[in-house]
Amino acid sequence: MLLLNDIEKLVIHIDTKGKEIIKQDKQQVWVQVQAGENWHEFVLWCLENGFGGVENLALIPGNVGTSPIQNIGAYGVEVKDVIEKVHYIDIATNKKQILLNKECQFGYRESIFKKELKGKTVVTSVVFKLSTTNHKKNVAYGAIQTKLTEKEINNPTIKEIANAVICIREEKLPDPKKIGNSGSFFKNPIISINKFKDLHERFPTIPNYPVYELQPNSKSRMQNSELVKLAAGWLVDQCGYKGKRIGDAGVHEKQALVLVNYGNATGKGILSLAHFIQNSVKEKFGVTLEMEVNLVT
Ligand code: EPU
Repeated sequence: MLLLNDIEKLVIHIDTKGKEIIKQDKQQVWVQVQAGENWHEFVLWCLENGFGGVENLALIPGNVGTSPIQNIGAYGVEVKDVIEKVHYIDIATNKKQILLNKECQFGYRESIFKKELKGKTVVTSVVFKLSTTNHKKNVAYGAIQTKLTEKEINNPTIKEIANAVICIREEKLPDPKKIGNSGSFFKNPIISINKFKDLHERFPTIPNYPVYELQPNSKSRMQNSELVKLAAGWLVDQCGYKGKRIGDAGVHEKQALVLVNYGNATGKGILSLAHFIQNSVKEKFGVTLEMEVNLVT
């Protein structure tokens, strides 16, 4: 979130706690977690209990209740991969409601809670479906591979994967307890293959990733060969913004995708830096950067 003004209205901080195993079979466990639980503490609790599925999402700041809203993701995993359902209160009717995973319209940093239900719900708890054995490990992400190789680990446990992720995040991303930031400020843009071919000719080292889409009526994901995902951090970096600051609003020195507040920047100051960046990227690459943060007025 980026607060653009001081908020002169009632603010409710959801601080409900509790993690309950509600169902278990030979290979999986279903855990209902209250919205106010700290996300990373929940990940650590899963690791202590040998529950797999969230290890790649270690050290993401925030609470469990916000995780489905943004569909938080990192290192090849998104929280939608382990969410069974989301409990929420409909603010207009004051009624408790439940949405199943497939009803949440999850996408890349997207969900129904940011679209048609925006501002209309309070998420109260999330039910996760986690593995207790035969964990599906996601170690394909380059930085994880490098970190595991450095530590000479061939067949990592879920704890070792989490530790690798924690190391990578600590090296690259600023700790919001020490310096104000909201993680990646922009989403990685998705562009057409034709536009990509043109960019690739002009910038041969441009990082790019395939785009996968969930097939209707099936759980399998297929590559969409018409689309390519770019690294917003690289685009911003190439425009020369890394480590730059305007007053106390700055671009992190190790990750150009993260905007930071060195102390006294206002929300509007951060936003105007973001607009400068968007304009530069548009001018140099013809690519529009969409904000990942939610602007709160
Ligand atoms: N890069 C640069 N310069 C930079 C930053 C990145 O050249 O200043 C290049 C890197 O060298 C790499 C590429 O850009 O080739 C991608 O960088 P990185 O692997 O750091 O990941 P990212 O795309 O910048 C995304 C997520 C992060 C998530 C990481 C790991 C988005 C918007 N961001 O970052 O999520 O932790 O991948 O999975 O999708 C967040 O959403 O708040 C967040 C931190």
